[in-house]
Amino acid sequence: MDIINITYIWMLIALIVFPINLVYKAPYGKHSTKKWGKSIDNKTGWTLMELPALLTCPLTYFTIVEEINLSIVFIILWITHYFNRTIIYPLRIKTKGKKIPIAIVASAFFFNMVNGFFNGYFLTLVQFESISHMYLILGLIIFIIGFYINISSDNILIKLRTKQKGYVIPKGKLFNYVSCPNFFGEIIEWLGFAIMTLNPGSLSFLIWTICNLIPRSIAHHKWYQDNFENYPKKRKAVVPYFL
Ligand SMILES: NC(=O)c1ccc[n+]([C@@H]2O[C@H](COP(=O)([O-])OP(=O)(O)OC[C@H]3O[C@@H](n4cnc5c(N)ncnc54)[C@H](OP(=O)(O)O)[C@@H]3O)[C@@H](O)[C@H]2O)c1
Repeated sequence: MDIINITYIWMLIALIVFPINLVYKAPYGKHSTKKWGKSIDNKTGWTLMELPALLTCPLTYFTIVEEINLSIVFIILWITHYFNRTIIYPLRIKTKGKKIPIAIVASAFFFNMVNGFFNGYFLTLVQFESISHMYLILGLIIFIIGFYINISSDNILIKLRTKQKGYVIPKGKLFNYVSCPNFFGEIIEWLGFAIMTLNPGSLSFLIWTICNLIPRSIAHHKWYQDNFENYPKKRKAVVPYFL
């Protein structure tokens, strides 16, 4: 079986995982439970599970590509995102004493390894010069907007923990419209990446991100409604005015 067909199967798995994610919440953060066996320090868990994505995509790309060309720009965008998620983000989050199940870290590690490989592999086939300027510019603008929304929303959440340890209702920027603007930003970001690079690897990553983060944002939204009586009624879960 060739790699394109394997990538289609990988996309199909994401679609199968989607309804499962709607029923079973990934047991970390707000949805932590002790039922999922042994766990490790939350910050270490984040670095461990994201590291394969940071490394596998560029390593695959540089191993396979015969001549470095302008599509290296996509690798730089990838590294920028994953350097933040793997190194900077875990150092900044205020989750001292919190744990994450090894089962979650292991499954995310596997996912990031496969996803990093597919993206690195298909980026070697992308001919930068032949991409339509419209896709390139539109995709890059969407990617940058998503990146900004994701990081600025994560920043608001991180700052909430400077004065107290628990959970409070986040406010400001897109939090005035949705419970999970960080997830909204992440989805927008990989939508932009898929538009720019137009390949099965980036498309599969977009599908996986949607199938992981839409159910998690619905679970977060319900958690806020159940835990805060004064939770803003007009706020949606992840897409302003829509979902
Ligand atoms: N591409 C993908 O498929 C994918 C999948 C998962 C995550 N991500 C990205 O990874 C990042 C983190 O994901 P996550 O699921 O951990 O996000 P999250 O549940 O929104 O939590 C982010 C951080 O903020 C804290 N926090 C959340 N709500 C809070 C509140 N109301 N008051 C005070 N602190 C609060 C959390 O602490 P606690 O840990 O104590 O809750 C955590 O440290 C996001 O940017 C997300 O987009 C991407």
